[in-house]
Amino acid sequence: MSSVVVVGTQWGDEGKGKITDFLARKAHMVVRYQGGSNAGHTVVVDGEEFRLHLIPSGILYEDKICVIGNGVVIELGVLVRELQYLQERGKNTSNLRISDNAHLVMPYHRRLDEIEEEQRGEDRLGTTKRGIGPAYRDKAARFGLRVCDLLERETFRKKLATRLEQVNHLLCQVYGTEGFDLEEMEAEFRRYADIIEPHVVDTSLIINQALDAGQNVLFEGAQGTLLDLDHGTYPYVTSSHPTAGGACIGAGVGPTKIDRVIGVTKAYTSRVGDGPFPTELTGETGDWIREKGHEYGTTTGRPRRCGWLDTVILRHAVRVSGLTGLALTRLDTLGGLKEIKICRGYRYRGRLLTEFPHSLDVLKECEPVYEEVPGWDIDISHLTDYDDLPVEAKNYLQRVEELAGVKIDLVSIGRERAQTISLHRVF
Ligand code: IMO
Ligand code: MG
Repeated sequence: MSSVVVVGTQWGDEGKGKITDFLARKAHMVVRYQGGSNAGHTVVVDGEEFRLHLIPSGILYEDKICVIGNGVVIELGVLVRELQYLQERGKNTSNLRISDNAHLVMPYHRRLDEIEEEQRGEDRLGTTKRGIGPAYRDKAARFGLRVCDLLERETFRKKLATRLEQVNHLLCQVYGTEGFDLEEMEAEFRRYADIIEPHVVDTSLIINQALDAGQNVLFEGAQGTLLDLDHGTYPYVTSSHPTAGGACIGAGVGPTKIDRVIGVTKAYTSRVGDGPFPTELTGETGDWIREKGHEYGTTTGRPRRCGWLDTVILRHAVRVSGLTGLALTRLDTLGGLKEIKICRGYRYRGRLLTEFPHSLDVLKECEPVYEEVPGWDIDISHLTDYDDLPVEAKNYLQRVEELAGVKIDLVSIGRERAQTISLHRVF
């Protein structure tokens, strides 16, 4: 038995989909445990690109059991479209399992997300407007609707009616917009229920059974450490726990069952959405990285803010998720730069900070302290062996390992599954 959790170490978009797909080869089961359709995981197999938001990246293999765990918030319209998209492209979706205990993202969650963002004005969070915050809020406030409720016709109608009455009051009386129609929404969800019902199970049970049977289970995180509700740059975070602990709660497995935690990190940093970002490059180099790395959002198409690698952030991720190794992605993107900078600490009011601060007021004032390493100018995207990397690239990787305090297990040098160099065995 082996279980590996894949988490993002930065602000999301680190390449978790690609790394999950690569590791899934040796897994029996791939599990999403938090987030929702705010995630955008791109996987390229034999030149074909797949964009996934809710279904685990393991679905591109014929035989992997793919699980949407209890910790995920599910927008059924998106899920149903994603199933259709995969089927149209010849993929087998019969191995999808959906937790009966997962909460639903309802149309009013999306609407509230939009309204609240607008109301925040200058202080907007830059959410994906997928209703994620309002859905997790309803879950915590115990107003949520779960998959198992959906499958009980009468219960669902009753719960939906109660909730809609409250939400419509809010939408009409407070925000002065239109409310939602119960009959219409019920009919829409009835259709979804018929489509997903064959996939619905107690996913905690089947994951634990797989582990007990000695199978390999891969947990696919969405978002990243700095978007974690507790460990991220609050309030510029998402409403779930993308750190490793989230895998236990969001999948229903005990911490004693987790063997390894792989942190996915880009060779640089990117952020989509608002909030402080110490190593952000707003000039030419930032634009160069954005264009070379095609740094535009998978979910929203927004241009991503780009900057140098920040090992203060990496050490934070190592600590809060207990990372056992890193998967460093986009090394190929850095090729062609004369010098590459790595942030090793922050200067704050004359003091050197080596740990990530919690206060955004402090973070906003932090100036990155860099060290520079020489770049390389050859195309590395076709290489398959670590030994063939240019010495400058190897030195860069070594320095990242030293500063992060953890080894690098995998290096990604392109979008294709095959463009991955393995340094240490993960499964
Ligand atoms: P993947 O899984 C990058 C960001 C949003 C915003 C904040 C809150 O592809 O890495 P939300 O809609 O979750 O309430 O938005 O979180 N965000 C992501 N950024 N990648 C993601 O997912 C993200 N999911 C949410 O941009 O700043
Ligand atoms: Mg993404």
